[in-house]
Amino acid sequence: MKVDVILGLQWGDEGKGKVVDCLAEHYDIVARFQGGPNAGHTLHLQGKKHVLHTVPSGIFHPHIVSLIGNGVVVDPVVLQREVEQLEHQGNVAIGNRLLVARKAHLILPTHRWLDMASEAHKGQEQIGSTLKGIGPTYMDKTGRNGLRVGDLEQPGFRRRYEALKRKHLDLLRLYPTIPFDLEAAEAEWFAGIASLQSLSLVDGEYYLNDALRQGKRILAEGAQGAMLDIDFGTYPFVTSSNTISAGVCTGLGIAPQRIGRVIGIAKAYCTRVGGGPFPTELTDALGERLRQVGAEFGATTGRPRRCGWLDLPQLQYTVQLTGATELCLTKLDVLGHLPHIAVATHYFYNGSQTTQLPFDLCETPVTPVLKNYPSWHGNLDGVGRFEDLPPAARRYVEEVEALLGVPIRMISTGPAREQLLVR
Ligand code: GDP
Ligand code: IMO
Ligand code: MG
Repeated sequence: MKVDVILGLQWGDEGKGKVVDCLAEHYDIVARFQGGPNAGHTLHLQGKKHVLHTVPSGIFHPHIVSLIGNGVVVDPVVLQREVEQLEHQGNVAIGNRLLVARKAHLILPTHRWLDMASEAHKGQEQIGSTLKGIGPTYMDKTGRNGLRVGDLEQPGFRRRYEALKRKHLDLLRLYPTIPFDLEAAEAEWFAGIASLQSLSLVDGEYYLNDALRQGKRILAEGAQGAMLDIDFGTYPFVTSSNTISAGVCTGLGIAPQRIGRVIGIAKAYCTRVGGGPFPTELTDALGERLRQVGAEFGATTGRPRRCGWLDLPQLQYTVQLTGATELCLTKLDVLGHLPHIAVATHYFYNGSQTTQLPFDLCETPVTPVLKNYPSWHGNLDGVGRFEDLPPAARRYVEEVEALLGVPIRMISTGPAREQLLVR
């Protein structure tokens, strides 16, 4: 058995959560492998909207076991809130279906404040972090100072927490002042810790490899997108984890030869929330139209997302990095509400036209070379098969597929579970 992967090929918010929910019926286990509560994965079920930050997006299927993998950073407060919301508003019986890997790192309240202080310190150069403490927590992980979920079961936990907190408070004094209420935050955090301890803590690497041996079907769910990858994204405007397929191996304890399908999710256009380069960004009325029709506002922070055309050099790059074996194109419906459509086929910089990204998109601004397509001027409601799409929509998908050289196996035509065409 192999582990299939769903990950984002752009700057996040490609619709990963929706697609994971749609495909979960074919799996036994859904596992998140990186990121943390900076993620916001939206599902629309029976007319109701649910946003997941830490819990994998298969949770609404009663047969699915969900695992928060070791590569994830966990804020116990956010997780507790999420679990309570799922149980009370989502009518989801969590029971023992939510597992947390012991080697996952914990986000402390002081990590969040360090995130805020670091952003404040950067002034104009701000990354536009979600301020969930992601960067500082991964820094403590690679700096070998972090606290892990499994440490909760060890005798020295409180002492190690106090030591790390003290270090953070010392560090905070070096930064611009951030207002915080330590006592209240700690009370809330330890309540979250108690709630976390009531979940099933597991050695995720053993759990998943045993499950594979037993013939269980596993889907790995990525957060963010490949252009936010710490190594290959638009550094420093990135997140702090490996969002590409390699992150599945380190974030779950899965060997590379155990990876099967890699389903890359791409929007039919591009969005980005936060700072950093965005070659095809539309800062005009057309960009505003995309934002309104596509409801492009952050699921985690509510910030308006920057919008622009589909960027093929960018996608070719992330298809290569992730080894995507197939694609799912989401939000195709949105493009039918624009006067016309365009995609970037090349970049122009340093005097020539190319499909290769420069070393640093921040230092080498590129001019996208655009190709125009007609819009089909209508919605895609009720379209159940690829063949039934308006000809202009079909042509758009087929051309993108040909230019990328990877099959587009699925097309999402709306936020609901039912709105997915499989070819
Ligand atoms: P994720 O972070 O990749 O899971 O994506 P988000 O949930 O942050 O953002 C995707 C948004 O688009 C959500 O509000 C989804 O409900 C919505 N969405 C997903 N697929 C489609 C689609 O095909 N069409 C439309 N109109 N909305 C979609
Ligand atoms: P999902 O899983 C879109 C962006 C932030 C910021 C940068 C660093 O919903 O696709 P961080 O909080 O990690 O320090 O922020 O990355 N970012 C996302 N953008 N979708 C996400 O997750 C994101 N998670 C982080 O806006 O620019
Ligand atoms: Mg999102």
